[in-house]
Amino acid sequence: MKTLDELARWAASPPPAEADFPAALAELRAALAAYPQRDFWMSRKAGVFTHLNEHWLKPAPPARKPAIGQALNQLKAEAEGVFAGQEAQAARAAVTRRLAAERVDVTLPGVSALAAPSHPVLQVRDEIVQIFLHLGYTVADGPEIETAYYNFEALNIPFGHPAREEQDTLYLGPGLDDYLLRTHTSPVQIRTMERQAPPLRIIVPGKVYRRDAPDASHSPNFHQIEGLAVDCGLHFGDLKGTLDHFAREFFGPSVRTRLRPSYFQFTEPSAELDVSCIFCGGAGCRTCKHSGWIEVLGCGMVDPAVFGFVNYDPEAVTGFAFGMGVERMAMIRYDVDDLQRFYSGDLRFLEQFR
Ligand code: DAH
Repeated sequence: MKTLDELARWAASPPPAEADFPAALAELRAALAAYPQRDFWMSRKAGVFTHLNEHWLKPAPPARKPAIGQALNQLKAEAEGVFAGQEAQAARAAVTRRLAAERVDVTLPGVSALAAPSHPVLQVRDEIVQIFLHLGYTVADGPEIETAYYNFEALNIPFGHPAREEQDTLYLGPGLDDYLLRTHTSPVQIRTMERQAPPLRIIVPGKVYRRDAPDASHSPNFHQIEGLAVDCGLHFGDLKGTLDHFAREFFGPSVRTRLRPSYFQFTEPSAELDVSCIFCGGAGCRTCKHSGWIEVLGCGMVDPAVFGFVNYDPEAVTGFAFGMGVERMAMIRYDVDDLQRFYSGDLRFLEQFR
């Protein structure tokens, strides 16, 4: 078998004698099978067929031309077939390789698209909401821009009452005098009762705003969770049992609770819930300021005056409510002593809560 060079030179030399032509054709056919390279054969400028055309066909005596032309055309058609087949096969092989390389193993664990884990405050918020969902509560919400009516009035905090000042309200300002940023999630109690007849059990996670300078225990914007249950015959024992259950679910089964008398305008009687210190078990430590107890939330029986604002019949139904700060719950749970850490965006801090 000729080498590629020899083949090219042979095609560019005078044609074989008529008697040798069938053997020459056979040799070309064998070479085509041995060297199936498109350019080598088909290139317009220097391919074998261009040579054969120039050197075997053109100078041939007219009597031989048709036979040589036909034989070469036939061979060229065969060559086209060879190359087309070869290319189709290469394309199929490429697809096969790509499919193999790009195969997706759906049984592999997924890569999370989230670059960051959820924020500890939101984790705690969701965990608390879950506890109440399991008790049959449903989530309710309301606007963060509120009116004085919902934020104060209907919660039994009349105009001029000092509690309005205590709450350090952010008002929207000139022309929008009646609008404010809600200082607590309690207005959602009113909005929900306006829309819905009793019985009712809602849990309300949300953002609240206060005119406070940021420090270790204050922030102008933080999260609260409000709870409200209204039904026939609900009493203080139901409130206590519900909060006991919540405290054990959230802080652990060995936590003890106590209710201390307190005062809120929209509940009567009102109380504050303490839990036994989760760090010292009640013996006294830095976190509980050596009291053995940690203050957790405010609560009470819904004041009948509040029912008056939403046209609930205080002779027919009673209710209890509670409200807590989510950041505060997170600070207690994780023994974080500076509220600002939660807002710092410091990943070294946040990544501990993955
Ligand atoms: N809204 C109160 C606050 O922001 C918290 C609160 C206390 C909510 C007692 C309640 C409650 O529902 O019963 O300080």
